[in-house]
Amino acid sequence: MPSISEKGKHMPPSPIRKLVPYADKAKAEGKKIYHLNIGQPDIESPKVMLDAIRNIDLKVIEYSHSAGIESYRRKLISYYKKYNININFEDILITTGGSEAIEIAMMTCLNEGDEIIIPEPFYANYNGFSTQAGVTVVPVFSSIRNGFALPPHDVFEKVITPRTKAIMICNPSNPTGHLYSKEELQSLRDLALKHDLYLFADEVYREFCYDNNSYFSIMHLEGLDENIILLDSISKRYSACGARIGAMISKNKKVMSTAMKFAQARLSPPTFGQIAAEAAIDTPQEYFDNVKAEYVARRNFVIEQLNSMPGVFCAKPSGAFYCMAELPIDDSDTFCQWLLEKFSYKGQTVMLAPATGFYSHAELGKKEVRIAYVLNLDDLKNAMICLNEALKVYPGRVENISNNTIVMQ
Ligand SMILES: Cc1ncc(COP(=O)(O)O)c(C=O)c1O
Repeated sequence: MPSISEKGKHMPPSPIRKLVPYADKAKAEGKKIYHLNIGQPDIESPKVMLDAIRNIDLKVIEYSHSAGIESYRRKLISYYKKYNININFEDILITTGGSEAIEIAMMTCLNEGDEIIIPEPFYANYNGFSTQAGVTVVPVFSSIRNGFALPPHDVFEKVITPRTKAIMICNPSNPTGHLYSKEELQSLRDLALKHDLYLFADEVYREFCYDNNSYFSIMHLEGLDENIILLDSISKRYSACGARIGAMISKNKKVMSTAMKFAQARLSPPTFGQIAAEAAIDTPQEYFDNVKAEYVARRNFVIEQLNSMPGVFCAKPSGAFYCMAELPIDDSDTFCQWLLEKFSYKGQTVMLAPATGFYSHAELGKKEVRIAYVLNLDDLKNAMICLNEALKVYPGRVENISNNTIVMQ
């Protein structure tokens, strides 16, 4: 039998989806499961977007331009302008989801064996994208105890080597919910300039910034146009994960012309998704205000509930729709599997993402889980009851957490 590629062997499976067989079994046994394990929002997509899909009247579903439909790229300029991000349509490459934007950016900017520094915990698929590109992820640790703030400058300096080519952040962050401040971004700017590094920012949760914290995009940094790569997506913005539309954005012309070669090889991003995405730019502000108010209510409820459970500690996130919680447990993988296999409360249980998959060393996430507050308040209420009951009876419970005050960012 022909052998499997080395990359294929090293490609990490999704740590978020690995519990799915246990969830399927639990469902087959009649248990109701509250899914807090995955960032699939229950919010309706904007009406203008759904209408555009309903009204599609094409005779031929053609390929689009490899960089994306030009009218969509031109219209996107007005979307970004609202955030004080000033770009031209040539700076935008439309991709098949933010996922493809990250893949193309890595292949465009880094060689096999190059290193990319990423604060951990980080979005687990960054491991998969870097494996595909042959790039090594160098993590820098950020702690739940200080709200997952950016590690200090000298921590980055210590891990920079001649192979370091880029620093990547996710802002606001999946999985931590941390919203990076202007000062944190400026410290990254200094590092990028000093060491001539690319600065990648995954800003797919831009719409989800809370508590009147001002949102500071990587694109607001001055004097760094050649180094900055913005990675974006409409999946979360419009609750349109299935549309599969993202974007890679940079003012570095060499980067964009190289990225275009990768884009040409995969021909074009999805036509239907782009039509929907173009229409979605006309989404009324009221839609975003309502969605944000809903997420703030969910976040406040979940954080309050978690921190009132004995032995549980949760930092208060300022963005995205995730939080990381430290639990009084021996092992988050075992606990999350046990929740599905062995536990139920009134015929219900909860599915969480073990944090082990978000750290470079599983050990660091053994006591933490990521919770996506993507369900309505009633369901969240039941989910929190289930989690509280589960922690009371979990055989691997360990009392090792000293305080449970909320860390404000
Ligand atoms: C931080 C982050 N980046 C990128 C993506 C990929 O999104 P897309 O659906 O646009 O491929 C996700 C999806 O959950 C995400 O959470």
